[in-house]
Amino acid sequence: MVSSLGGRALHPQVQRVLLALTIPLDLLQMVKARMMLAMNKGLNRQTHAQATVKMLPTYICSTPNGTGRTAQPGGRFPQLSDNTFDMPEDLMQGTGEALFDFIAQCVRQFLGDGCHSKERLPLGFVFPFSCRQTRLDKAELISWSKGFSCSDVEGKDVVQLLQLAINKQEVGELEVVALMNDTVGTMMTCSTREIPCEVALIVDKGTNSCFMADVQHVQTVEETRGRMCVNTEWGCFGDDGALDDILTPYDQHVDEESSNPGVKRFEKLVGSLYLGDVVRHALIALAAEKALFIGSNVTVLGTKGVLTTQQVVEIISSKEGMTKARMTLEALGLRPSERDCCRMQQVCRAVVSRSAALCAAGLAAILSLIRQSRGLERLMINVAVDGELYHGMPHVQLDTVTRLLAPECLVNLKLSEDGTGRGAAMVTAVALRLADQRREVNQLLAPLRLTRADLERVQALMRQEMDLGLGRETNANASVRMLPTYVRGTPDGTERGEFLALDLGGTNFRVLAVRVAEKGIQIASQIYVIPTNIMQGTGEALFDHIVDCIMDFQMKQDLKGRVLPLGFTFSFPCKQLGLDKAVLLNWTKGFSASDCVGKDVVQLLREAAQRKQVEKALNVVAVVNDTVGTMMSCGYEDPECEIGLIVGTGTNACYMEEMQNVGTVEGEQGRMCINMEWGAFGDNGCLDHLFTEFDQMVDEKTINPGKQRFEKLISGMYLGEIVRHILLALVEKGILFQDKACPTLQNRDIFKTKFLSTIEIDGLALTKVQAILWDLELQANFEECSLVREVCQTVSLRAAQLCAAGLAAVVEKMRENRGLGQLAVTVGVDGTLYKMHPCFSEHLQQTLQDLAPNCAVTFLLSEDGSGKGAALVAAVAVCGAES
Ligand code: G6P
Ligand code: BGC
Repeated sequence: MVSSLGGRALHPQVQRVLLALTIPLDLLQMVKARMMLAMNKGLNRQTHAQATVKMLPTYICSTPNGTGRTAQPGGRFPQLSDNTFDMPEDLMQGTGEALFDFIAQCVRQFLGDGCHSKERLPLGFVFPFSCRQTRLDKAELISWSKGFSCSDVEGKDVVQLLQLAINKQEVGELEVVALMNDTVGTMMTCSTREIPCEVALIVDKGTNSCFMADVQHVQTVEETRGRMCVNTEWGCFGDDGALDDILTPYDQHVDEESSNPGVKRFEKLVGSLYLGDVVRHALIALAAEKALFIGSNVTVLGTKGVLTTQQVVEIISSKEGMTKARMTLEALGLRPSERDCCRMQQVCRAVVSRSAALCAAGLAAILSLIRQSRGLERLMINVAVDGELYHGMPHVQLDTVTRLLAPECLVNLKLSEDGTGRGAAMVTAVALRLADQRREVNQLLAPLRLTRADLERVQALMRQEMDLGLGRETNANASVRMLPTYVRGTPDGTERGEFLALDLGGTNFRVLAVRVAEKGIQIASQIYVIPTNIMQGTGEALFDHIVDCIMDFQMKQDLKGRVLPLGFTFSFPCKQLGLDKAVLLNWTKGFSASDCVGKDVVQLLREAAQRKQVEKALNVVAVVNDTVGTMMSCGYEDPECEIGLIVGTGTNACYMEEMQNVGTVEGEQGRMCINMEWGAFGDNGCLDHLFTEFDQMVDEKTINPGKQRFEKLISGMYLGEIVRHILLALVEKGILFQDKACPTLQNRDIFKTKFLSTIEIDGLALTKVQAILWDLELQANFEECSLVREVCQTVSLRAAQLCAAGLAAVVEKMRENRGLGQLAVTVGVDGTLYKMHPCFSEHLQQTLQDLAPNCAVTFLLSEDGSGKGAALVAAVAVCGAES
């Protein structure tokens, strides 16, 4: 408010200047509204990039007396020792390296003798500049401010720069574990038991604020529940012109003179780095209009910085303000009159009051945002305040104006007592716990994270086992059996006829009728259930059940009385004695029907048909593995398809091998499809170095321990179990589900592989992950949800990479076989894991390309399963027999 002083009427020029520097309440309301708008813009994912008020996430998710995350770790911090170091001015504009070296030297000096301790010492770094944070210990400097402009720091991770500088100093085991803005450190120190402190305000050289925002409004982070402290970086408010109507010509001059003209407009109206100069420019204008210093030479006022904010504050606040004004002016060589001193004091007051009023408008904006997002009628809150200027500022004014602008909020301004240090220590303690936890998690998961060298070794081993499996003499000792299939070619499109097909061994048992005609292939099929008691009962019951299903299907399809040639996809390892003779070598994937191993499965099927007296209705002409069925079915579409791959309940591959390399079958001409049975790769111990304790535990609990070891690292039947065992280990270490009971996690197979497929969907909100876990009665918070996701990702990535290493051995062998520099080949692929998992196929293909760069491999997804392929093999068999 402009008033007259000592009964004398105010000089019109002085009045004009004071008016320009005074923001009336209605305009302050508008500033508050614009600030809210700017803040919302910063929080919104779409508008964030253009926003002036950046609203940066800090990854601090609770306040000391909140949910307890910061309450316990490290206990309280009763003792604080500190040391202040003077920073040489020229460092501020020097190189980044010099700045960080200086800081590291100070740390070294501070620690004194302690700096050689072998004990790990965590360090929290309060860094009051605008940083883009992606973790507590990762912060990229967006831009310098407040007179700093060190080279080579903007755009870089400041934590890393400091750590490097510290490492150079060889300061023991010092580790930078958290970086935070000064506002955050301040906020942490001001909570009371009753009322949490969820806002902090700094009015110092610059100005800034932070507050605990409801995470669902912070769209720039993935978390969707709980709170996170947001560093507003409100100093840039107005950089888009939002403050133009309150800027005075003096502010424009100050801005032009600054090291960063055009930016940080709000800060330049509020921060102590600028207020002295605003006053100075106002005085220059008044002198030019002969309202001040008449007869004096005022050139000295043209120099930036001759009037400090410190002096301005003293002039307005102390009783001796007038004397202070005189002394200040005289020190500048001016000879002020009593009136000059009085007018100067009025200008100083106006500038400082304006700063307080603008801070109040900003604060009111924050309070209203919090109140709105929490749906509260009234908000009771502690606001921590710190900064040199605030200590000299009329608090009452900040307090009063805030109340006027946010009347629904009961604000308690609390002066931070020991600066940011104690807050920083608290954050550091949390960071430390998280860092320790991270180390343990990394340690636990390390054996599952494979290097390129690991994968190359797997590839080489697979190649070795393939050669052993193909050799007549060595076959018996190979873990990869390399079974001949008697399939000698892929379809050529001339196949014709009507067939029946059976498809047993995957998620579903299917019976199909397949018509292969010139126009294409038509399929009718039905899924039948095979109950576990039949899978694991007697062989007779299993094959009786299969025949029942065939009869049922024939009846439903009106095929009764017709004897169609039948192709049988039987997805288990079989020693094939001919196209229609296949001796089961062993069961896999949870099957264990008795009296089948060592028998011809076609014969078992025929015997069942005899028992049911329908043997005349069955004409089995071919048995194929699902890999072969898949290759054939895809080969019908693409003649380059010479590999079949399954990644489903189990995993396996087949490919076209040169007859001359197949030592286990007579004949040298042409090619034959080899069913690798790579699921058993490693059963001879050659992969023992890869198995983790979790793999061992999974293996031990299966019905075929020690068998199908490669499959148990890769396929859908086992990945969920591996994840479950890792989660159990994390629980045991106290990292996961702390203090929460999770008995369900003890249940075998509770964690399905399909959960991995959902949990790993890119961009899936953590609430969805949480819902999946809650369904399993696992009460996971967000930190825990993302840990579970990480475990899933690690397990499925390893599976995809191992699968790729196996496939790389296959394509490279085919390329060598054919003496080609480059091989172009298509893989027909099927299986629920491959089809349903969001990134398995991508990881598989990437790794394969990396491991076998000379092979251009195309993946063709099989559309109707391998039953169609079995029918095509049957067609070839029938045609062959006829010709
Ligand atoms: C195809 C075949 C099945 C095969 C399956 C593998 O659908 O028709 O015979 O076993 O792929 O996938 P799954 O995930 O069912 O084990
Ligand atoms: C079987 C293979 C089959 C694979 C994929 C494995 O367990 O041994 O014969 O191809 O699963 O279904």
